[in-house]
Amino acid sequence: MTGVSSDSAPAESLRTALVQQLVATGTIRDERVAAAFAAVPRHLFVPQASLDIAYADDVVLMKQNEAGVVTSSVSQPSIVALMLQQAAIRPGDRVLEIGSGGYNAALMRELAGPHGAVTSVDIDPEVTDRARESLDEAGYGDVAVVRADGAFGVPERAPYDRIVVTVTAWDIASAWMQQLRPGGRIVVPLRLRGQTRAIAFDLVGDHLESRSTTVCGFVSMQGAGADYERLVPLQEGGLTFDEDQEGEPHPQYDVLTLPAEQTWSGVEVHREEPLLDLYLWLASKLPGYCVLSGEEWSWVAAVATADSLAYLTSRSGRDEAHVELGCRGHGPHASQLIGHMLDQVQSWDAKHRRGPAFQVHASNAVLPPGFHIARRHSYITVTWEE
Ligand SMILES: C[S@@+](CC[C@H](N)C(=O)[O-])C[C@H]1O[C@@H](n2cnc3c(N)ncnc32)[C@H](O)[C@@H]1O
Repeated sequence: MTGVSSDSAPAESLRTALVQQLVATGTIRDERVAAAFAAVPRHLFVPQASLDIAYADDVVLMKQNEAGVVTSSVSQPSIVALMLQQAAIRPGDRVLEIGSGGYNAALMRELAGPHGAVTSVDIDPEVTDRARESLDEAGYGDVAVVRADGAFGVPERAPYDRIVVTVTAWDIASAWMQQLRPGGRIVVPLRLRGQTRAIAFDLVGDHLESRSTTVCGFVSMQGAGADYERLVPLQEGGLTFDEDQEGEPHPQYDVLTLPAEQTWSGVEVHREEPLLDLYLWLASKLPGYCVLSGEEWSWVAAVATADSLAYLTSRSGRDEAHVELGCRGHGPHASQLIGHMLDQVQSWDAKHRRGPAFQVHASNAVLPPGFHIARRHSYITVTWEE
């Protein structure tokens, strides 16, 4: 783009270094995405940050609420790059971004080019004001910035070839499917059973089919699409259930103080291996699935009944790089829960490590076989290849 008045040689060299780093780590694999990153002056979108911070591969926090929870940020470059590659924006595309900051919208404008159109919507007027100013200063005056609840899309500028959601969502809003062109793509950080992955879905007929996933974390959606999780406090932590698990029982407050049992699975995983797929497999197979968190457990797959709780644990494996998975439980039905959980750990290890695929159907549709998660506007179906 032209018209960048506030760029500088130090900013340009830090930007070049960031692009080189993202290419060297294999994060950026698409030349057009590399060119967009090289063109957009990120420091103009985070004016409070030093140049070093602006060009580090890190999120820049922009706003917190009264409780200290971050409500807005300019996202981490590597996550932005991965999601833009998932989105595969082509020259001439009409693109909708949900959750503004300005930076990602400018990158999208680079990718969609002068014959495309980029619209960015944010629920927070402070964010839209800042995004508007930064986009103008950086020379992206033709990106439209709209203040509205993104759960309703931006119908007046639809249809879109691409929708990129940059805030954690629990559901695929009906408006997003309606405003997407046939064959269009939506990339959305979807939170399912306590875990978030950016999933690229293509609109195929009347439903969405997943094409790729990236592990990520974003601030939570506010407005009409908020609050899909329920936290059940325990003496030493808490259990998180999704909204659709409303009827599922949970044990008493002091369950973790009851005598513990523990069994090992014989299944080893690499210490660094993200276990999201295993957790989702357990969620799809075990009634009472929830996530245990607390000082001792940052985020652990668990299964609960009205009087017992079991959760995944680990111990040293065959070498320093590996751990063996096991299960620990408390309460009168602990050994039963442990047995069920370990059976599923072994089944995942033997047959399902290739990971899940996802489909999204409207709430009134006939659903394909699979594990269905009911949301307010859609059903998310998870299937597993053997
Ligand atoms: C991670 S930030 C977006 C980062 C941005 N895309 C960038 O360029 O780095 C997430 C944004 O989503 C916004 N947000 C939260 N709920 C929203 C909603 N329902 N509709 C639109 N924006 C929302 C927040 O105000 C916040 O600014």
